[in-house]
Amino acid sequence: MISHFLVDTDLDAETYRALLLRARELKALQKAGTPHRTLDGKVLAMIFEKSSTRTRVSFETGIFQLGGTGLHLSTRDSQLGRGEPVADTARALSEMVDCIMIRTFAQTSVEQLAEHATVPVINGLTDSYHPCQLLADMQTWFDNRGDISGARAAWIGDANNVCNSWMLVAKLLGFELHIGCPPGFCPDDEILAQCGSAVTVHQDPRAAIENADLVTTDVFSSMGQEDEAAQRLSAFRGYQVDTELMNGASGDALFLHCLPAHRGEEVSADVIDGPQSVVWEQAGNRLHAQKALMEHLVRTF
Ligand code: CP
Ligand code: NVA
Repeated sequence: MISHFLVDTDLDAETYRALLLRARELKALQKAGTPHRTLDGKVLAMIFEKSSTRTRVSFETGIFQLGGTGLHLSTRDSQLGRGEPVADTARALSEMVDCIMIRTFAQTSVEQLAEHATVPVINGLTDSYHPCQLLADMQTWFDNRGDISGARAAWIGDANNVCNSWMLVAKLLGFELHIGCPPGFCPDDEILAQCGSAVTVHQDPRAAIENADLVTTDVFSSMGQEDEAAQRLSAFRGYQVDTELMNGASGDALFLHCLPAHRGEEVSADVIDGPQSVVWEQAGNRLHAQKALMEHLVRTF
């Protein structure tokens, strides 16, 4: 049976933790310059319908370091952009490559791709979820602080695709997630219901951040929401993670951000560039965590 990674909960908690351990090993091998060509000769196709820096570089570098190669397909210059159905793309690519990563708008496009592919499919971000980001975020916590079970995390700002993945992972790995969001920008009821008592929603960001061990946020306008930027900027006034807000968290709280960041909007420069921030390590962990993911999906397939 083919395993896909379309949403965070496609991994069970035990496999999730095992991948984080493997990601740590892979990080050590890479830092030591020790070869680890576990996917020798394998090919990853990467379909991008939205912009990317970290996702592209981490997947392409990752598959190369594992002994394979990555192909970058932009919808602007592939037949997908000219209307070739996702199902046909899935069937054709499956004849040639060993794994497909896709970054797109609708979660249903990723689901359709997986339905018709005969190789593993990885969600590299949709409007609904960003599961690869959460693997790296969890690795960052686990490498710095150990298991996250029982910890208290705060998400401040827009309850977007990355927040949805945080919610699912809070439930999966057993930590508390407190979300501070303005009315109209709070989590979807269906996802909230799936997460039970793992997730609490607050309108006051100070209540969400209180005693948090980890604080995270993301842009106020995600890719595809550029036209709403001005309206969102005003709706999110008071939701910037600045030093004053951070002071409500636990004294040794870690600050995470998936990046790209807008300093002066969702986060102040002194927080993202300050001593509690681990955002560069977090960005680097995209490489290690996704290498562990690709090994798992391609080798178990
Ligand atoms: N965090 C993240 O996915 O970054 P990119 O958009 O640069 O890939
Ligand atoms: N929420 C952001 C994440 C970017 C990595 C977006 O979807 O644009």
